[in-house]
Amino acid sequence: MAETPSSKYDAVAMTLHWLMAALITAVAVIGLLFDLMDRETKLVWVNIHNCLGLAVLVLAVGRIVWRLTHRPPDLPATIDAIIRKLSGPGHLVLYVLIFAVPALGALTFFPRGQPVDFSLFQIPPLMTPDRAFGRSMHGLHQIGAYILIGAVCLHVAMALWHRLVKRDGIFGRMVPGRSI
Ligand code: HEM
Ligand code: HEM
Repeated sequence: MAETPSSKYDAVAMTLHWLMAALITAVAVIGLLFDLMDRETKLVWVNIHNCLGLAVLVLAVGRIVWRLTHRPPDLPATIDAIIRKLSGPGHLVLYVLIFAVPALGALTFFPRGQPVDFSLFQIPPLMTPDRAFGRSMHGLHQIGAYILIGAVCLHVAMALWHRLVKRDGIFGRMVPGRSI
């Protein structure tokens, strides 16, 4: 007998999705607060931002590999043609940003010639110090971060629209347990 296609994302995809949603939110909020911090406080929080941001980068690679090797559940037949057309490209933009933004963050920080300190171990700068290069990457990291924040807000608005207005089961595809 043919296997019924699953209507939900698998456990790995859900775990990575929600873990990364929490991490990216924390990293973005810390980044947005940098301007309000004094020098000493900012030094501590830049390191925390870097540690969590590098975790996002590693998880993003894992998530992209998982996505390329595991087919997501098919959209229900009742979904509007326009949503069907736009959801793939919309998710692709998110995948590009969750990799590119932390990668640009690393290219902003490492040219300063300092390590990222995880307490138990350190990640050395991995490149020769080059302040001018780091500054130009900072501009790109900042623009990328703002685009990512905007894209995530739109994504969350769409998810809530599916859950609260359309009530078409799309939201529940990414939530463990019973369908909502
Ligand atoms: C999803 C991941 C990330 C997000 C959403 C994010 C977001 C941000 C935001 C909003 C800012 C403030 C931009 C501004 O200057 O106005 C910032 C600054 C910065 N980020 Fe990230 N970031 C991420 C990952 C990383 C990573 C992985 C690193 C380094 C390993 C990093 C290093 C930096 C540095 C060095 C700054 C500038 C701090 C300063 O002003 O000295 N970021 N980031
Ligand atoms: C930083 C935050 C987030 C990022 C980067 C993100 C990224 C993504 C990506 C890339 C997908 C597509 C999965 C795939 O088809 O491979 C997805 C799906 C989904 N996300 Fe998010 N997400 C975030 C936060 C949220 C939040 C807060 C919610 C709920 C309020 C949410 C709800 C969903 C839902 C319901 C799906 C499944 C859509 C479908 O079935 O087609 N996401 N997310």
